[in-house]
Amino acid sequence: MATMASSNILLVVFAVVAVLSVLASGAQPPQPRRIEADVVVMGFVPCNNGTSMRTGSAPGFPNALVQLHCADGAVAANATTDGKGWFRMALNTTATLSSVASGCDLAVATPLASCNAALPATGTLRSGLRLLVSMVFFPRGFSYVSSSSSLD
Ligand SMILES: *[C@@H]1O[C@H](CO)[C@@H](O)[C@H](O)[C@H]1NC(C)=O
Ligand SMILES: *[C@@H]1O[C@H](CO)[C@@H](O)[C@H](O)[C@H]1NC(C)=O
Ligand SMILES: *[C@@H]1O[C@H](CO)[C@@H](O)[C@H](O)[C@H]1NC(C)=O
Repeated sequence: MATMASSNILLVVFAVVAVLSVLASGAQPPQPRRIEADVVVMGFVPCNNGTSMRTGSAPGFPNALVQLHCADGAVAANATTDGKGWFRMALNTTATLSSVASGCDLAVATPLASCNAALPATGTLRSGLRLLVSMVFFPRGFSYVSSSSSLD
């Protein structure tokens, strides 16, 4: 019994020495693997104050600032629409695609009246996300939300 106990202690000592020599040699302990998804969100922003508007339901909203908001409330990505209302944004995230689809949405920060003065000066266009293919999301359809205070 006494010899088994001392050989166990020796094994522990050898293990500690082995770990210390690995650390001393500068080798890094293994890092947890980072899940890095390159997410692309692209779509069309309509210049209208309707609900669930899809591509073609209204003229495009040019030069509109589109922001992607996620569950933590921070702006995860920004994009500006082109002259015809189309935008595209890309971001690296550790979030899963399903949590991006359920936890993020799009908000248009540029006032709607700047594309058509007849439209309301307050309120924003907002849309949820739909996974289109692979890592590419599309807006579900922008809807006019009269209060901009109810972010997410
Ligand atoms: C998005 O734009 C806002 C305001 O211009 C800025 O504060 C923020 O850092 C931007 N976020 C990203 C992810 O580009
Ligand atoms: C995502 O990460 C890759 C690799 O680090 C980098 O090349 C790319 O520019 C990043 N993309 C964005 C949108 O930040
Ligand atoms: C939408 O805009 C029109 C003006 O083009 C306005 O008459 C109407 O009240 C607006 N609707 C909402 C919900 O703000």
